[in-house]
Amino acid sequence: MLMRRVDSGNGRTCEGWSSMRAVVHDRYGPPEVLHIEEVERPIPKDDEVLIRIHATTVNRSDCALRAAEPFFSRFLTGMRRPRQGILGSEFAGVVEVAGPSVTEFNIGDRVFGMKPWKFGAHAEFIAVQGSGPLARMPEGSTFEEAVAVCDGAILALNCLRPGKVRTGQSVLVYGASGSMGTAGVQLAAAFGAHVTAVCTTRNFDLVRSLGADEVIDYTQEDFTKNRRTYDVIFDAVGKQSFAGCKASLKHGGVYLPTDGLRNLALAAWTSRIGDRKVVFDLPPKFTKKDVLFLKGLMEAGKYRAVIDRRYSLEQVVEATKYVELHQKVGNVVLTVVT
Ligand SMILES: NC(=O)c1ccc[n+]([C@@H]2O[C@H](COP(=O)([O-])OP(=O)(O)OC[C@H]3O[C@@H](n4cnc5c(N)ncnc54)[C@H](OP(=O)(O)O)[C@@H]3O)[C@@H](O)[C@H]2O)c1
Repeated sequence: MLMRRVDSGNGRTCEGWSSMRAVVHDRYGPPEVLHIEEVERPIPKDDEVLIRIHATTVNRSDCALRAAEPFFSRFLTGMRRPRQGILGSEFAGVVEVAGPSVTEFNIGDRVFGMKPWKFGAHAEFIAVQGSGPLARMPEGSTFEEAVAVCDGAILALNCLRPGKVRTGQSVLVYGASGSMGTAGVQLAAAFGAHVTAVCTTRNFDLVRSLGADEVIDYTQEDFTKNRRTYDVIFDAVGKQSFAGCKASLKHGGVYLPTDGLRNLALAAWTSRIGDRKVVFDLPPKFTKKDVLFLKGLMEAGKYRAVIDRRYSLEQVVEATKYVELHQKVGNVVLTVVT
């Protein structure tokens, strides 16, 4: 059988019999452009490992890339059609092949991590650099738990670290029930902050269990009008603005956004003027150090995966439609091998 070649992120595919199932999209569009195909399996380069994927996720980045939103993202992903045919940035699985220059991993190792810019995890196999954001699984974690950690938590770390979140600070996490929100609550608590989580009442128990000291239901109370002030406001769902939050920041306080070009300009402006700052570092960095940091937190019982729904790889369209409702609690997992 002649197998179709779909670049799964490292630019190499094998010639012969080795195939895999993958979720492919040939054009930008609604979730229905995603379909399962038998494609060639990637061949790992010398410094890469080939991983047999057991679980992956559908996240906001997958949805944005597939829909080519915002439009200018096409300059990076292909103007007329997607250059990267297979989405998926997070994976957990087992090392099937280790390239000759990989010293850290062996065949059979259970690993988890990310392929953030090139994707390719919505498939049975992925080839990734051994030195990249990849680590052995946290002790006691399932593949589904480990896979639901990296994206939200590393993005949240990319916001909280430049904001210098530390012990004794008061941190408000707005949108505390999403992927970055649940990560933000747990990380701010792990850094020793006093955490106020803003979400709907149905998620109060969850965010308290993640380390929130106080909770506010945004449908009942507008935190920007209750006269309370915070050292840090982390807008984990991009629904607030610096102007709206400024009066709720203490002197020297920081507003940490997760998106918006406007916030880049504000970060540059407020770095020079005013005592309340917007801190927003782009592009985010995805490092092995951070994957190891999260593994350590999980093993210490200070971080856990928050999984809303689980789907099979074949149910990717349904999973994607659910993610695009913007109502998920934590993360949505795709199980690849059962
Ligand atoms: N910096 C980067 O590189 C990067 C990459 C990807 C995504 N992002 C950004 O990261 C942010 C979060 O993405 P995510 O995937 O973590 O989000 P998500 O998981 O899709 O967030 C969903 C959650 O947000 C809550 N929510 C929805 N509307 C809300 C509102 N008006 N107020 C408070 N909570 C609300 C929902 O709870 P309810 O249904 O109960 O309201 C739901 O639990 C977005 O702003 C996205 O643009 C940034």
